[in-house]
Amino acid sequence: MWLFELSWSTQTIIFLASLILVIKIYLHWTCGVCTSTKRLDGKTVIITGANTGIGKETAMDMALRGARVILACRNLDRANAARDEIIASTRKTNVIVKHLDLASLKSVRAFAHDILKTENRLDILINNAGLAALGPELTEDGLDNQMQSNHFGHFLLTNMLLGLIKKSAPSRIINVASEAHRFPRKLDFDNLNFKTDGKGLFKIYGVTKLCNVLFTKELASRLKGTGTIVFCLHPGSVKTDVGRNCPLWLKCITWPFCTPFFKSAKEGAQTTIYLAVTENLEGLSGSYFSDCKVAKESKLAKDEGLAKKLWEVSEELVKIQKDELHL
Ligand SMILES: NC(=O)c1ccc[n+]([C@@H]2O[C@H](COP(=O)([O-])OP(=O)(O)OC[C@H]3O[C@@H](n4cnc5c(N)ncnc54)[C@H](OP(=O)(O)O)[C@@H]3O)[C@@H](O)[C@H]2O)c1
Repeated sequence: MWLFELSWSTQTIIFLASLILVIKIYLHWTCGVCTSTKRLDGKTVIITGANTGIGKETAMDMALRGARVILACRNLDRANAARDEIIASTRKTNVIVKHLDLASLKSVRAFAHDILKTENRLDILINNAGLAALGPELTEDGLDNQMQSNHFGHFLLTNMLLGLIKKSAPSRIINVASEAHRFPRKLDFDNLNFKTDGKGLFKIYGVTKLCNVLFTKELASRLKGTGTIVFCLHPGSVKTDVGRNCPLWLKCITWPFCTPFFKSAKEGAQTTIYLAVTENLEGLSGSYFSDCKVAKESKLAKDEGLAKKLWEVSEELVKIQKDELHL
């Protein structure tokens, strides 16, 4: 056969290319896709970290469905560029930018006060922003930067906006977590800000994502009967900037060998979009999703006592005030 007449190296290249193609077709075929055509006219959606990656694709979809979309971002230049791109490609103009740096509790409070003053409803809050950094680093609030950007900031933001979200019921809160929530073997409340260690490459990131899942569980339980439902999700392995702080050696391994199999940002946004628009999900509030289906979270993430304790410790660490609580 002609194939066997080719040189060994050509045969190897053809074999590898075919293998990649078959895996890509399989991954594309099994990747969850949101098929709902639900419109969101008259609804308001806030998406944190919406200037790039999964957040930007989610914002694009929400705008296309007719929602008023608020891009909550820390870099206004990048956020304005994303807004212009979304408006140009969707031809929907109800897309606005507001400054939010989750690594500053002052910024979270200022953003929330602004929303409470200027918006009369909030139907969907998507806590999407996330950061994977190399090691511990303290913010101006004395909290670990990754913990604050990925968990504490969203914890405070959600609590401050809850009154408006509940008033807009039926409403939803969606927390973008990760399969990395499985990495931690325990949640060490005495060292939640990694003051004594935290050097493992994805150690802190894994803890922050476990916090996202535990926060979802506790929030869903506190919101039972209010008409506001809460979900968390793993978007898949997605080609975005999330690994921008990874060491060069890791990038050298992942780029050629892994990224060909990663989802595009649009594919990575599907589960978030599914949770924002799919009807009849009320009975599943508190669940963890992946590829637009309920998925199993880690054993630690199901621990109700841990979720309650995390809530109490988070309240203390963000110094939540009585008038910021709406539960
Ligand atoms: N990509 C994946 O494979 C993957 C897998 C599992 C989970 N996730 C999760 O998916 C979510 C979206 O990530 P992505 O993949 O789309 O990554 P990305 O392209 O890096 O986007 C992350 C977004 O979060 C923003 N952000 C980070 N820290 C912030 C802070 N302190 N305040 C406000 N915004 C902040 C970033 O803003 P700047 O542009 O200004 O930095 C950016 O807009 C994250 O929660 C991530 O953990 C991603």
